[in-house]
Amino acid sequence: KRSESKCSEWSRKPPGIRIIRDTIALFISHFEFIFMDLTSLKSVQQFVEMFRARGLPLHVLVNNAGTMMVPEMRTVDGFEFHFALNYLGHFLLTNSLLDILKRSGRQGSRSRIVNVSSATHYAGVVDMEDLNRRACYSSHGAYAQSKLALVLFTYHLQEQMTAGGFPVTVNAVDPGMVDTALYDNLWSLVRSCKVLFLHVCPPQTPAEGASTTVYAAVASEMEGVGGRYVYNGRKTRSADLSYDSELQAELWKKSCELAGLREN
Ligand SMILES: NC(=O)c1ccc[n+]([C@@H]2O[C@H](COP(=O)([O-])OP(=O)(O)OC[C@H]3O[C@@H](n4cnc5c(N)ncnc54)[C@H](OP(=O)(O)O)[C@@H]3O)[C@@H](O)[C@H]2O)c1
Repeated sequence: KRSESKCSEWSRKPPGIRIIRDTIALFISHFEFIFMDLTSLKSVQQFVEMFRARGLPLHVLVNNAGTMMVPEMRTVDGFEFHFALNYLGHFLLTNSLLDILKRSGRQGSRSRIVNVSSATHYAGVVDMEDLNRRACYSSHGAYAQSKLALVLFTYHLQEQMTAGGFPVTVNAVDPGMVDTALYDNLWSLVRSCKVLFLHVCPPQTPAEGASTTVYAAVASEMEGVGGRYVYNGRKTRSADLSYDSELQAELWKKSCELAGLREN
């Protein structure tokens, strides 16, 4: 969670969200919300330290947080907002927890990383010379780039896990169109069009929208399956660009530099 007060409040008294109350609370005796602001590298590092101090295993990491079409903004670290929140924060988080994920998995029960991308990635272009979109900003372009970056990251990380024989799988998912606060930043004109569009083509509820992510995170059919793009419960081909292994490696190297990680 990105709000410290909500974290402590929710840990004491979980909100009335049915999926949390009925599902998680029934099966898990202890759960906790821990603060992390993915737009701040320092906040991600602090979260990782806190998590490490618990000495817990980690079997599933879902990189779900995101924002869409916000006006041009920079994070505390000076990165473009979509790039930092949707991609770089998750890149740092995943890499910082990778040793725990590796230790927690085993053959037949691998640890799983699920990166929540979007169909918008098909329109994405990764500009290696200007990842922060300083030259020409478009909120749609920035969102699409961040979601394509997540898919490139997914495939490159899976290659590393396979090459090293580590019991970790990494997949990207597209939840489809889901009625959430993600659309709050659309301009009012587009929002009105959206209302009309949604009338003709109703979006999924958040619970329905979460199903593909949950499928990738826990389904037995997905055991040992990695490096896939999953949409609607099915493995689907992602954008051609996302399979470009040179681009994957270049983005990985640059992301390590930007996030202050040593390339392995
Ligand atoms: N909705 C769709 O139609 C759709 C389609 C394709 C892909 N997606 C993807 O699905 C994912 C979830 O989006 P959603 O539709 O559920 O949108 P949402 O309702 O706006 O949820 C956004 C989530 O991101 C978290 N978040 C935002 N800023 C954060 C920050 N700085 N640090 C940490 N967490 C932060 C929020 O945490 P708090 O709860 O603390 O605010 C919230 O959990 C996103 O990656 C989005 O791109 C959604």
